[in-house]
Amino acid sequence: LQRTLSTTWNRISGIAHPTGAATIEVVRGALDQQRADDLLSFWRGRRALSGQEAQRRLPEVVCVLRRDGAVVGASSAYESNVALIGNRRFWIYRSLLDQAVADQGPNMVRATFTALEDEFGGSSEAPIGLCLLLSPDERRLRSAEAVWRDPRMIYAGYVGDGRQFRLAYFENALIATPSPGVQVRPPGEYGSAVGSGYRIEPFAEQERVTREDVVAFWTREGALAAPEAQRRVAEILLVASDRAGRPVGVSTTVLRRIDPLRADLWYTRVFVGAAHRRSHLAVGLALAARDRLARRFASGEDRRAIGIVFEVESEVLKRFLPQAIWPRTEFAFIGETSTGSHVRVFYFPGAPAPEPG
Ligand SMILES: CC(C)(COP(=O)(O)OP(=O)(O)OC[C@H]1O[C@@H](n2cnc3c(N)ncnc32)[C@H](O)[C@@H]1OP(=O)(O)O)[C@@H](O)C(=O)NCCC(=O)NCCS
Repeated sequence: LQRTLSTTWNRISGIAHPTGAATIEVVRGALDQQRADDLLSFWRGRRALSGQEAQRRLPEVVCVLRRDGAVVGASSAYESNVALIGNRRFWIYRSLLDQAVADQGPNMVRATFTALEDEFGGSSEAPIGLCLLLSPDERRLRSAEAVWRDPRMIYAGYVGDGRQFRLAYFENALIATPSPGVQVRPPGEYGSAVGSGYRIEPFAEQERVTREDVVAFWTREGALAAPEAQRRVAEILLVASDRAGRPVGVSTTVLRRIDPLRADLWYTRVFVGAAHRRSHLAVGLALAARDRLARRFASGEDRRAIGIVFEVESEVLKRFLPQAIWPRTEFAFIGETSTGSHVRVFYFPGAPAPEPG
């Protein structure tokens, strides 16, 4: 069934079109002969696709853009595993728009994303989101921010030919199979608060916990050997302590070049003492670190990094928090290390994606 995307159109109705309004039709899975012929002649006319290749592309078409009844643009998507993003399965977006309707690019992406998301049933084999590859010209037409809204589309690097890579996850997408019996919380249903009696404070702004206390805590817990613990002290951002003022959790951060993202990010770690786990201290520390670093970025106090990166080594966290975007902290899955850790990022609001350079 062909649906006209009236909601999308409502949102873009303020855009002026000198020779008439553009409308987006979602045609996925419902391409009748007339629309197929219109598309074939559109592609042929723009010397984009013809013959068998065009026929093969027809079933992949998701949206058609018309102005004054004529086809002036089309979007399509194909499924692929994406090596850059931990080999997870995504839809890859393609589109052709006439120059005169180039401003409709974001609306076409949004309509295509919505149509594909509507089909997403959460199966582990199904694509979990939509990827975009932007040529330098397309990139310059769009906001340089690392995070676009509606859909929330994040910067994820550059591919070999210089195109910028972005991705948007469908709601409730998972990047790992949850452990049996685990009820995965949907976003928004995350009522966790750090257990009572704990305090999370910036390490440099408190006196209850000393450097020696943290080194002793790390080594006692078997988290770090003494020389590494001594070295890591310089990276402490936050400390969680119990009622008695003893350290129970630590968050460290250090500026690191993240090559696939061609940017510097705060490489942040969280450790919670064995006796204090499951009190939402890890979530609390991650959230506090995120907000503190984001505030420093927003105020201009420290703009050396565009965001935060986490490597999730813990099998527990991988299996119990398998959401593509973590609820509450909003860290998004962006790939895997060679040792299988999940890499997650959070970009500061307003931070720009880097140039390919
Ligand atoms: C991994 C670690 C940081 C988690 O710390 P924590 O304070 O226990 O985690 P939280 O209480 O904030 O829990 C975070 C989420 O993971 C879940 N979770 C954590 N440990 C769990 C476990 N053993 N079983 C089931 N769920 C678990 C929690 O239920 C929570 O989700 P919820 O709010 O939906 O319930 C901590 O166990 C740790 O430091 N481990 C050793 C070091 C390590 O592996 N560090 C790697 C950090 S990536």
